[in-house]
Formats: sequence, C-alpha cells, structure tokens
Amino acid sequence: MAKKTADLIIENIGELVTCAGPADGRRGDALQALDIIKDGAVAVTDGRISGVGTTREIVASFDSANRIDASGRLVTPGLVDPHSHLVYSGSRHDEWEFKVTGRAPAAGLQGGIHRSVGWTRAASDEAMTSQALADLDEMAEHGTTTLEAKTGYGLERETELRLLRLTAGLQHPIDIIPTFLGAHVPPREYLDDTDAYVDLVIDMLPEAAELAEYCDVCCDPIGFTRAQCRRIGERAKELGLGIRVHSDQTGDAEGGFLAAELKAASADHADYTTDEGFRAMAEAGTAAILFPGVTYHMLEMTPALDGDTLVPAEKPFMPQVARRAVDAGCNVALSTDYNPGSCPTLSMQAAMQTAARLYRLGYAEIWHMSTLNAAASLGRGHDRGSLEPGKRADIVIWRVPQHGMVIHRFGTNLVDDVFIGGQQVVASGR
Ligand code: NIG
Ligand code: FE
Repeated sequence: MAKKTADLIIENIGELVTCAGPADGRRGDALQALDIIKDGAVAVTDGRISGVGTTREIVASFDSANRIDASGRLVTPGLVDPHSHLVYSGSRHDEWEFKVTGRAPAAGLQGGIHRSVGWTRAASDEAMTSQALADLDEMAEHGTTTLEAKTGYGLERETELRLLRLTAGLQHPIDIIPTFLGAHVPPREYLDDTDAYVDLVIDMLPEAAELAEYCDVCCDPIGFTRAQCRRIGERAKELGLGIRVHSDQTGDAEGGFLAAELKAASADHADYTTDEGFRAMAEAGTAAILFPGVTYHMLEMTPALDGDTLVPAEKPFMPQVARRAVDAGCNVALSTDYNPGSCPTLSMQAAMQTAARLYRLGYAEIWHMSTLNAAASLGRGHDRGSLEPGKRADIVIWRVPQHGMVIHRFGTNLVDDVFIGGQQVVASGR
C-alpha cells in the first residue's frame, strides 16, 4: 500500500499523551483515564492531525521529508487557557507588596481593578498592543496555543469597545477567542447607582456583539447581583453571544445558579459556589473554570499578618472546591486568569503545577483540565484540545520524558517546541 505524504512526522516519542475524549470534555472518573502511547508518533497534514499511533504504525502509513525525533521526550496537545484579561495597561506590583507584608492598607480587589482602569483608559493603542503581543509570545513559549481574552479594564463605552478592537487586531499565532466583560465591576463613577451602569453595559452590547464571541458578567459581591447579571446575559444571548460568568470569587452571589440559568458556557472562579450550584451547572452543561493561581497569588490559603497577629486563611476550604466540582459532574477546566491584579502569570504550566498543590488533583485530571476540557469550555472540543485525527495540529514537545514531571517540577519552563495549526511557533533548536 502506498504511503501518504505528511507535512510533518513527530516520531519516537518517549510518551505521547493524546488527552483524547468526548468533545464536551471528560468528567468524573473518566478524568483519571489518560490516553498514553509509548514510542508514539504523530503525523500532520494541512495543519491538522492526520495520524496518531505508535512510531511503527505511523511510519508504515506515512512518509514525510520533515521529521522530528522526539525520543526521550513527552508530546501533548497544546495547552488551552480559557480565561484571561489580556489587554490592559499598568502594573499593580506595588499594592501587592502591601498585601504581602501587611505594612500598609492594600487597595482591595475592586480598588485595584479601578487603578488598572485609570491606566488603561489613558494608554495608547500602540502601547497596549505591543504589551499584549509580548505577553502572547511568552504564553506560546510556555505551551499555550488557544487563549480566551476578555476586556474589563475600560468600564466605559469608548474604552471597552477599543479593547475589543485591539484584541481583534492582534496578529499572533495563538488563536484568540474574544469576550466582552463590560460588567467586570461597577466603575468608580457608578458606585452609587450600579443599575445605571448595567443599563450602559446593555447599551454597549450590540456593538460588542460585532467583535466578541462571548459576553462575561461578574456575579460576585465585588461585581453585580444575580438579577443585574441576568439582565445583561439575557440581552447578550438575544444578540447571539455565548455567556461566561465570573462567579462567586469573593462570596456566594449565586453565580453558579445564574450561569446554569443562562446556560452559560462557563462559570469561572467558583470558590464559594455550593454543591447545589455545581449540580445545576453540571445539568446545564456549564463548565467550572478554576484558578489555583489566584488563590495562591492572593495568599488566600496563607494566614494574614495583622501587626504581630496571624489571621486565619480566607479560603481554608479551597482543596475541596475542585473535587466538589468534579463530583457534581461538571466539566472542570483550569486557567491562568492572567490579569494585572489577582493573577499576573502567563503560564498554564504554573496553573497546572499550582492546581496539584492547592486542589490536590492528580496528573491525569490536570492534563485533561488544561487541554480537552478547557477547549470544551470554549465550544472547541470538537476541533482541538486532544491529539486525534482531524483535529487542529496544536502540539507541544516537552523537554521531560513523562507527563507527571511537568506538574511535579515547578518554577522553570519545560517546553521545547510548540506547533499551532501545524506551524512551528516555538523551536528549541534540538
Ligand atoms: O480575578 N471580578 C473580578 N476579579 C478579577 C480580578 C482582576 C484584577 O485584580 O484586576 C479576576 O478575574
Ligand atoms: Fe478573570
């Protein structure tokens, strides 16, 4: 039988982890069953996966002038980061030191967001675009191949729509899925009349719907009420937008129920979501997207210092959250929540490594939650998130031989090579 010609064959792979599974993600016990091929190979044709199997099987069916020897290395799908606040201006490292040391009052989450809003409104398009492109480069270098990116630091018509236009204009190999988050928190000017700001957000929606795929609403004590979010969400749905929710991050605002009610694609954070809320989400097909990096960076599991006194951690219950979401039957995914305040990391590796340490999840669960399940939460589970024939050739070659090592190690970048749609975008030079 004549061999098919592939554009690329990655062969002799020490451990090939396909993360194969259903397009709506793996749930419950199925999260533990990681699909692993020893001495594996992947063939790529026209930007898509054309073959996956052992090296012996693939080289029997495919030929290619372009071959990569991945012996002693791990190969996985590209990482999918389903929640980020990519375009903004300014750094909040100063206020974070106040929180760390307790030496001066910190701004608080809403106050911190208002600082970022001030800088973002004043920043030029060029400055924000060049920062976003540099950030995207770093994400790709750390293995991210698909990214959701939301607005939320404009909180006024002109800047919110400008952020959406800048996001749409980013020329980068990472596939960016744009989300309108006009309802991040009430802006300073509307703190006395948050309903009036909700009216303004609803008014922005028709223009936002031209540029965004999703509308996010923050259903949280620092954001908006369930009723306010429902008004925005219902109008966004009428305009054809999918729904995502920042939910229950700083307290139970019934964000999980709101997300289920709106049949949202995801409810993100979910720190204070109840078991009943998670069950409603599971039934509605709403993914739970979790951010261990936020809990870690905001020191929410670390006792705070009040003078010489230690104040108990804010979220001592945190290790149970991921397990409760899994047990309720949700599609659970992980993300960085990259933003200038609650989580300034660009690395999905950092999110995966922190997930093991804070949530006590196993390796197989973490890999599924950072690839297939994250893609499913973005409505892309049929197209990417696993290495299966027909899917986009988003592939990472790692410098370690086994998938557990990416999570067991921490603090260094373990990526060697990254391919997006079959094109090499990061090269180790090996
Ligand atoms: O973690 N409700 C919003 N919380 C944001 C915080 C962003 C920031 O600190 O700038 C979040 O997604
Ligand atoms: Fe966020």
